[in-house]
Formats: sequence, C-alpha cells, structure tokens
Amino acid sequence: MTGMTVHMTHFAEKPMDARYLRNAFGRFATGVTVITTRTASGKFEGLTANSFAAVSLDPPLVCWSLKRTSGSFGGFFAANHFAVNVLAAHQHALCRHFNTPRLDKFEDIAFAEGMHGAPLLTGSLATFECRTENTFEGGDHLIFVGRVVRATYREGEPLIFSSGRFCLPSLIEEHAAGDKGRATLSEDWGGL
Ligand SMILES: Cc1cc2nc3c(=O)[nH]c(=O)nc-3n(C[C@H](O)[C@H](O)[C@H](O)COP(=O)(O)O)c2cc1C
Repeated sequence: MTGMTVHMTHFAEKPMDARYLRNAFGRFATGVTVITTRTASGKFEGLTANSFAAVSLDPPLVCWSLKRTSGSFGGFFAANHFAVNVLAAHQHALCRHFNTPRLDKFEDIAFAEGMHGAPLLTGSLATFECRTENTFEGGDHLIFVGRVVRATYREGEPLIFSSGRFCLPSLIEEHAAGDKGRATLSEDWGGL
C-alpha cells in the first residue's frame, strides 16, 4: 500500500462540482485531435478535441462530442461531414491554437482540403475523413458518430494529454524499469 492521496466526491449527495469532475476525467490519458469541417458557406471550422474514439471496424465508425456553446457548433451541426486530425507530438502548438476561439483559425496553418473541403492538417499522424452518420444528445455536448470514408496514417510520436498536460511516450519508455523497448500486443488482442 502506498501513501498516495485519494480524492473522493459523491455527486448524488451534493451539487455537482464541475472542477472536481473535470480533474477526475483528466486522469484518463488521451491522444489529441483537431476536428475540422467546411461549412456550406465555405467557412473552415476546427477545434481541439480529445473526446474522439474509435467505435467500430465494420462498418468503420468513430465518435466525438462537441460542446453546445462552441462557436463552431452550428457549422458542424449543419455540415454532414468532418475530418479528424490526430496530432503528432511536434504539433503541440496546434492544440492551443485550435482551443482558442478566433474568426479564422486557418490563417497561417498548413493544410490540404479533403472530402467536401474539410481541412487536413499537414503533418498529422492520422486523418479520418468522415460522413456524419448520426448525432446523439450528450448533456451539454452533442455526440457525433461518423462513418470513415478515407483514412491515412504515418509513423511518428503521438501527442498525449493527461491531467491538463502533455506527456511524451518517449519519456514513459525511458522511465519504464528494465524496459527493453516498447511493450507490444499481438495482432489479435481484441481491441479496435
Ligand atoms: C486537450 C483538449 C481537448 C478538448 N476536447 C474537446 C472536445 O472533445 N469537445 C469540445 O467541444 N471541446 C473540446 N475542447 C475545447 C475546444 O477546443 C474549445 O472550446 C474551442 O475553442 C472550440 O472551438 P470553437 O470556439 O471554434 O467552436 C478541448 C480542448 C483541449 C485543450
């Protein structure tokens, strides 16, 4: 037993402490994506999102959730497509850039136009171009489920986000005791 402090709160018994819940959610380490679209009027939208998840291989489905009060909400809601850009470690500056509301987030950003013009950020580790298959109510967020029409990936170090900070996989590997290299799982391990 270590002397590690465990914080605890019960949401059923008192008004929800949003800060506490956010801290607890933050313990779940994720990759970081920038999700983009091009609206019917031709405006590029894009935001940093770590709610992205793979859902299904057959059919190929992904999901993510968008805060209803986001400036880009109307654009994503009306568009029937979006692109997911999985950020590489060297793209860390894009995380803050696409987390900051501004009129044109794509000025001075290198990208190519993908399906229906959705921006594909240059240097991304993976991209998923999707048709919006369904949306679901998710409290203060709307959940988007997309069917992947085209996917790309390349080798490289992913950007990892945990408890409000970035965390590089190379650092994890260096600190792993007696580790002779990255632990690998066999092809048939059952995950997506
Ligand atoms: C690491 C990280 C992950 C985020 N994930 C999400 C997310 O999944 N959904 C969301 O709506 N906002 C998320 N945000 C916040 C948005 O990026 C932010 O609200 C952005 O300004 C929204 O863009 P918009 O104002 O152009 O709509 C995240 C921010 C960060 C830094």
